[in-house]
This record gives sequence, structure tokens and C-alpha cells, in this order.
Amino acid sequence: MSDTEAPQGKTPRESASTLSESMMPDQLNHHGNVFGGEILALVDKCGGVVARRHARTPVVTVMVDRVEFRQPIYASDYVEAHGRLVYVGRTSMEVMVTVEAEQLETGNRRVTNVCYLTYVALDRLNGRPCPVPPLLLETDEDRRLHASAARRRERRATEEREDSAD
Ligand SMILES: CC(C)(COP(=O)(O)OP(=O)(O)OC[C@H]1O[C@@H](n2cnc3c(N)ncnc32)[C@H](O)[C@@H]1OP(=O)(O)O)[C@@H](O)C(=O)NCCC(=O)NCCS
Repeated sequence: MSDTEAPQGKTPRESASTLSESMMPDQLNHHGNVFGGEILALVDKCGGVVARRHARTPVVTVMVDRVEFRQPIYASDYVEAHGRLVYVGRTSMEVMVTVEAEQLETGNRRVTNVCYLTYVALDRLNGRPCPVPPLLLETDEDRRLHASAARRRERRATEEREDSAD
């Protein structure tokens, strides 16, 4: 498909992606836990794969919404980032990334982070935003996450209006 053709709809399942990494000593902070920036990089890479799979064009990150570090990640943990699309605009895509850490000795797994990133698809020729396929909501979970993404967009729009009125 060229960047200018009308795109067909795709489901979140078609672009869902997992990126994993075994943490190493050079990724630790002064407390001996994994440095937050390492996790953010993994999250952004995972979200970028999801967005590119949906758009099939280059993408850029335009926003990271609400990064929560719920629990520390320790040296030698095995970390997986799971990304799935939750909302698609005309040229933008919001991806939810959930990070899970596994202690390999015990198999104990815990969710350490959930965050939402927005990417914009770029036309290969002029580097400007280009239309992406609409999102086809297939499951109840797709619909629930889409509704909560719509509420987040509304909240951000309200905050922007309030900030510009200050
Ligand atoms: C992405 C970029 C090309 C958009 O340019 P722009 O002139 O703002 O384009 P538009 O106003 O047409 O917006 C394009 C889309 O981005 C969305 N968008 C732009 N800024 C946004 C922000 N801060 N948060 C959420 N969405 C945003 C718009 O809502 C629009 O979405 P829609 O088409 O689905 O309605 C430009 O902002 C850019 O180059 N940013 C830098 C990206 C970057 O370097 N990222 C880090 C490395 S990957």
C-alpha cells in the first residue's frame, strides 16, 4: 500500500507486540534497581513496533502519558513489554504498554509499569503526518480500552484549554 491510498481497518490484535530484555548490571541505578530510563526506552521501542505494524510507515513518538513505576525491577529480572493499540485518530495512534518483570529463579511475575504513548505516522516522501488505518474494535477488552483512551484524550484537551487560558 502506498502512503496516499485509503487505508483499510485493522484490529489491535494485528499489531500487538512484545519486546523482552534480560536486565544487566550496567542498567542499574544507585539503589541497585533497574534505571527508569532503561524501562522507558524498552517501552518506547515496543510502542513504536506496534504503531509501525499498524501504519506500515515510519512513526515518531509525540507524547508519553502517565508513566507509572509501580514496583522496582531488580538486576537479573527478565522484563517483557507488551504493547497494543487502544486508539487511532487520523494520523496518530495511542499504544498501551504494560511491563512485566519475571524473577527467573522463582517464576514470580509482576506488572511493574503501565503507560500510554502516542505516535504519529509519517509519509515516507515528505515526512509529514499521513493517514493510518482505522481501528477495528473486535473484543470487549478492545472496546473498554478504547473508551478509556477517549476519556484520556478529553482530559488532555481540557488541560490544554485550561493551560492556554492561564
Ligand atoms: C509529529 C509531528 C510531525 C506532528 O506535526 P504537527 O504539525 O503537530 O502535525 P498535526 O498538527 O497535523 O498533528 C498530527 C497528529 O498528531 C497529534 N499530535 C500532535 N502533537 C501531539 C501531542 N503533543 N500529543 C498528542 N497528539 C499530538 C495530533 O492530534 C494529530 O493527530 P490526528 O491526526 O490523529 O488528529 C511533529 O510534532 C514532530 O515532528 N514532533 C517531533 C517528534 C519526535 O521527534 N519525537 C521523538 C523521537 S521519535
